[in-house]
Amino acid sequence: MGTVVDLDKRGGAIRDMFGAVAPRYDLLNRVLSASLDVVWRRRAAAALTLADPAPVLDLCCGTGDQALALRSRGARVVAADFCVPMLALAERKYERLEDGRPHGLAGDALTLPFGDRQFSAVTVSFGLRNVADLDAALREIRRVLRPGGETAFLEFTVPRTPLLRAPYLFYFRRVLPWIGRRLSSRGSAYRYLPESVLEFPQRQGFLDRMAAAGFTDLECRDFSGGIVNLYRGRRA
Ligand SMILES: C[S@@+](CC[C@H](N)C(=O)[O-])C[C@H]1O[C@@H](n2cnc3c(N)ncnc32)[C@H](O)[C@@H]1O
Repeated sequence: MGTVVDLDKRGGAIRDMFGAVAPRYDLLNRVLSASLDVVWRRRAAAALTLADPAPVLDLCCGTGDQALALRSRGARVVAADFCVPMLALAERKYERLEDGRPHGLAGDALTLPFGDRQFSAVTVSFGLRNVADLDAALREIRRVLRPGGETAFLEFTVPRTPLLRAPYLFYFRRVLPWIGRRLSSRGSAYRYLPESVLEFPQRQGFLDRMAAAGFTDLECRDFSGGIVNLYRGRRA
């Protein structure tokens, strides 16, 4: 019998789930992706031109790895998340840095604590799938971007080729939750992960939502055989 997975995306439930997985979040990322997550974030950072010297916002920053990849490219980074235990782990990484530390702060993607047109770019890695209202979050991101500002969003997806899709879905639905149960104190989060990916808009479906929120120059790239997408766009 299939297990019903709770896809409750209200802020409190999501914050609570990420608070519970925070201590082992990085470990699980490395194990479950065979460290490809590091490569995906580096490629997302590399996709930005960073031609405008204004700061970059890394939203849903979690434990800070995307912000650090942006910093490696010389960007001034503001990193925001609404889950304090995740932010605290990010802060610990930033403290080890000599200079150019990302500036971390608590903030909800649906009501960003920033004025209009402050950022040259916004990145969100594996975060937008979790917000309660995707369209509202995209509008908020557009609001805080400068005209011409860039976006790079990473999100999990399902491979296009049927040959890859079947083994991937087996891994994603069976193996990944099994590993999650063993390594994390909140195993249910690793059942939520595949189910939330499968119900989230993918490729053209996601680009359509970006277009509706006012982004242009839209592009979707497949990474690693199409298990992750990078979505790029600009505020007109
Ligand atoms: C899967 S983690 C991704 C973390 C990080 N970006 C990474 O690449 O590992 C998703 C993050 O999004 C955050 N998040 C979810 N909904 C949010 C919201 N409405 N506002 C701010 N952060 C949110 C969670 O707290 C969590 O830290």
